[in-house]
Parts: sequence; structure tokens; C-alpha cells
Amino acid sequence: MSNTYNHHPLNSLPIGYCFNEFEIETIIGKGESGVVYRAWDHRLKCMVAIKEYIPSSLVTRGRDLELKLRRKDFQEKFQNGLTSFARGAHVMSCFQHPCLPFFRSFWQKNHTAYIARSFYNGITLKKLLATQAETINQRWICRFLYPLLDAINMIHHSDYLHGNIALDNILIQENEIPILLGLGSARKLTDHFPNEPDVTLRSGFTPLEQYTTHDDRQQQKGPWTDIYALGAILHTLIAGTPPPVSIVRNIEDHYQPLVERRPAGYSLSFLHAIDCALAIQPAERPASIPQLMALIESSSEGISPTPLPLDSDPPADKLTTYPSPVEHGKK
Ligand SMILES: Nc1ncnc2c1ncn2[C@@H]1O[C@H](COP(=O)(O)OP(=O)(O)OP(=O)(O)O)[C@@H](O)[C@H]1O
Ligand SMILES: [Mg+2]
Repeated sequence: MSNTYNHHPLNSLPIGYCFNEFEIETIIGKGESGVVYRAWDHRLKCMVAIKEYIPSSLVTRGRDLELKLRRKDFQEKFQNGLTSFARGAHVMSCFQHPCLPFFRSFWQKNHTAYIARSFYNGITLKKLLATQAETINQRWICRFLYPLLDAINMIHHSDYLHGNIALDNILIQENEIPILLGLGSARKLTDHFPNEPDVTLRSGFTPLEQYTTHDDRQQQKGPWTDIYALGAILHTLIAGTPPPVSIVRNIEDHYQPLVERRPAGYSLSFLHAIDCALAIQPAERPASIPQLMALIESSSEGISPTPLPLDSDPPADKLTTYPSPVEHGKK
């Protein structure tokens, strides 16, 4: 392979570029902080998804394909992002679940870093909502929701918060098994990394407590933080739009509960559970995935005015009991 390439408009690596056994085939995603490629693994004869850390506001790619800072004083910001990317790779490598992408490897090259995971054929909820909205009904949602809740429960069970559950981070495969992406943002609730890049704010999806890194709010983060994002996703799938922005709701709340809107084809208990997940104050939401599941499964006749069935057991047949994840290198 020659050492120089033509510049690609997205500053991405060229098609055909190789890292040992991986050969880049196409670009499948592009965000603020990186590019995701589909690549072919020549050794195992399968597809992989490779994520490259390349924050386009801080760096550009030279003809030798190495990243160059746009300005010298971006060095610290770039380095903090790279450290966070590497930490995300470690988190991904710790968790294994049929609904989380299988972690393959992490390496550094071109003055940046890469994460390879198995590739999954599927469509993101964001795309599905835009192109196949007619597919969406309660039965279809529940088919992917229960396995997804199981994966999120496993993450919470280890005291981690996913923190980046979004329509474009949930991939639905042809067999309807969901794949939850974005795990690189997950952090242990007890850890605090002040130099790490802020969470991605998503208007209508981000709960109140994620809008600030102030210590008071920081302490209010927990499983219910992911539960709000999940509630906003379900609301969007059912109503077609996300709920009003949480920080605006905190001043004046114009959220119309789904149980009042009564969209056709959805049970009241299901709609009520989503309304509870979307409580603006963290303490008023279901505190855990088992509590959310108990609400979803509660009888629709008996919707109680109190939002939380405290100390309720999860429906035993739906959630798995998980051991702690493998913490590599820790004894
Ligand atoms: N393992 C995978 N298999 C198939 N497609 C994938 C895979 N990983 C990523 N993608 C596709 O690439 C897109 C971007 O990937 P990803 O969500 O990991 O990166 P991002 O959106 O840039 O970062 P993040 O969500 O962590 O903020 C996804 O929405 C999905 O369409
Ligand atoms: Mg994403």
C-alpha cells in the first residue's frame, strides 16, 4: 500500500485501508468525535465495525493519514477526548450481552485510537421511525424492549450508567434483537472525570440531571437517568415526537401524559409506565429497570395515582440475574 492518499471529504480513512487483518470497506457512521467504518476481517472472514477517534473540530487528517491538530492549543482537549475514548473501550470490553456489540480490539495508530466490534446488520430506531413508522406498535416495541431492558439492567447492576441511550444508538436486527450502541460513554456512577468531554445533550431526550456537571445534580444521576432517556425514546416511537425539553419542563411543564392522549393500540399500563419514566424529578421516576418493568406489566385496570410501586420484584421470567462484569487487569 502506498504511503500517501488523496484527502477524503470527511477526513476519514480511504476505502481499502488496512490495519493488519481489517480492511476498510465503507463509512457507516459519522459523529462529532469520530467516524465508524465497516471493515472486513480477512482472518476470521466476517465484518467488523471500527470506530476511529477523530474530533473534526480539533483535528484534520494529513496526506500521510496521521491526525494533525487544527491549533496547537487544542492539544489538551484532544488528549482528554482520547483518554475518554480509551476508557470507553475498556468499559465496552467489560460487558458481554447478546444486545451489546461484541468487543474485538482496541489499538492506537495515526496519532489516534481505534475500537473494533462485531458488525450487526440492522436499522437504527431513528431511521426506522423515519422510514417504517407503520411497523411500530406495542407488540413490536415489546419484542425489542425486554431484551434491551435486560442489557441496561446488567449495566446498572454493575453500578454503571449508560448515559447515551438514544434513537440512533439502538440498532434493530432483522431477527428483531436490538443492539445497544454508545456504551463508550458509560461510566461508573461513583467515578467522576472532570476533564472528560461533556455528555451529548439531546433535546427532548436528556433528563434534567444530565444538563449540568454541578455536584448536586451529579449526585442525582442513577439508573433513573437512563430510564428517562428510554421513556423519551418510547414516547417518540408512540407519539411521533419527543417530550418537551426537560430543562424547560422544569420551569413550566407542558408535558401531556400519554394516558391522557390515549394513542390507539397501547395498553394503559404501558403508557402509564412511560409517563412515570418521564417524571421530571429524578426521585419521582422508577428507580430501577425492575421497577420500570413492574409498571409496564401492572394491570391496566389498576393504575394508581402514586407513580412508583416501591420494593416491587421484577417479573422473574424477564430479567436475568447478572454477575459483575469482568474487570480486566483487576484482581
Ligand atoms: N457494531 C455495529 N454494527 C453495525 N452498525 C454500527 C455498529 N456500530 C456503529 N454502527 C453504525 O454507526 C453509527 C454510529 O455509531 P456509534 O453510535 O457507535 O457512534 P457515534 O454515534 O459517533 O458515537 P456515540 O453514539 O457513542 O456518541 C450507528 O448509529 C450505527 O448506524
Ligand atoms: Mg451513536
